Amino acid sequence: MSKQIVVSGIRSTGFLHLGNYFGAIHNYVKMQNDYNCYFFVADYHSLTTHPDPKDLKQHVFRVAAENIASGLDPEKVALYVQSDVPEILELYFLLNTLTYKGELEKVPTFKEKVRSQPENVNAGLLTYPVLMAADILIHRAVKVPVGKDQEQHLEMARNMANRFNNRYGELFPEPYPFNFGSELIKVPSLDGNGKMSKSENINATIYLADDDETIRKKTMKAKSGLSPEQPNSSMTDDIQNLFSLMRLMTDEIIVAQYEAAYADCSIRFGDMKKQLAEDMIRFVAPIRERAADLQKDEVRLQRILKEGAEKARASASETLKATRKLIGINYY
Ligand code: TRP
Repeated sequence: MSKQIVVSGIRSTGFLHLGNYFGAIHNYVKMQNDYNCYFFVADYHSLTTHPDPKDLKQHVFRVAAENIASGLDPEKVALYVQSDVPEILELYFLLNTLTYKGELEKVPTFKEKVRSQPENVNAGLLTYPVLMAADILIHRAVKVPVGKDQEQHLEMARNMANRFNNRYGELFPEPYPFNFGSELIKVPSLDGNGKMSKSENINATIYLADDDETIRKKTMKAKSGLSPEQPNSSMTDDIQNLFSLMRLMTDEIIVAQYEAAYADCSIRFGDMKKQLAEDMIRFVAPIRERAADLQKDEVRLQRILKEGAEKARASASETLKATRKLIGINYY
């Protein structure tokens, strides 16, 4: 049986952090053996906020390098840059004709942008979900590893697929969000305010590019409060966060020792944070170093991305040919 097709887009703004690792990259790496995977850097999507042209290449290469350094194998998956696959833009226009202004205006992520950047409500932002649908449907993907915040976009992609199929004939399968297990892994920030994030709480977020000393400093500053005074007292949110991070990073036996120490009030949060910092360093340092080496080897990265684009275009051009034919763009 042929492998199921998987697509996911990686935003090229900001530095990748542990939240991205456990929320996305980790899933990509787990999928790469069993599925036919297309993973791309979404550089067109990033243009809706007008990044400085000088920065674009560096952003794209860094994100690609960090994904490879985290275990994504460009031999197994097609890893490419969105703008290297022009077929996506043609399908984007065709899907635009099947999408209504009213439904785009209702999308929560769009409404949020209207609130947060009223000075730049451009049509690219409005049609962001159409471009995302084109990214997915161009490979006729059925599974899309994304976070909860992308569910509405996926529902729109399914609507566009169905509208196309009903009007022009069966071509696109319905894509569904995918994750391993029912709970998505949440990586709490070190200051107890929500999750690790690309732009907020820089000091409470561990980035894959952070050096050892930075990781130590950020971790030691994490809020922990006073040691418990009563045996078996319930944990504050800050302490629960530290334990959640520890469960991702630290050997189970050691985590159990700290839990026991919490229960009998002998825990010292300073020691716990030191342990956590060293375990995060052990996790991040090899990824950081591999990513840095790759970023220095531009020729190799370019070769990887060009090969990825070739694989992606082979699949994309087949879909586009079938799409044009069904629509009636079939003149010669
Ligand atoms: N919108 C996604 C995000 O913000 C990124 C993305 C763009 C994407 N195109 C995609 C994800 C296609 C999955 C499939 O994270």
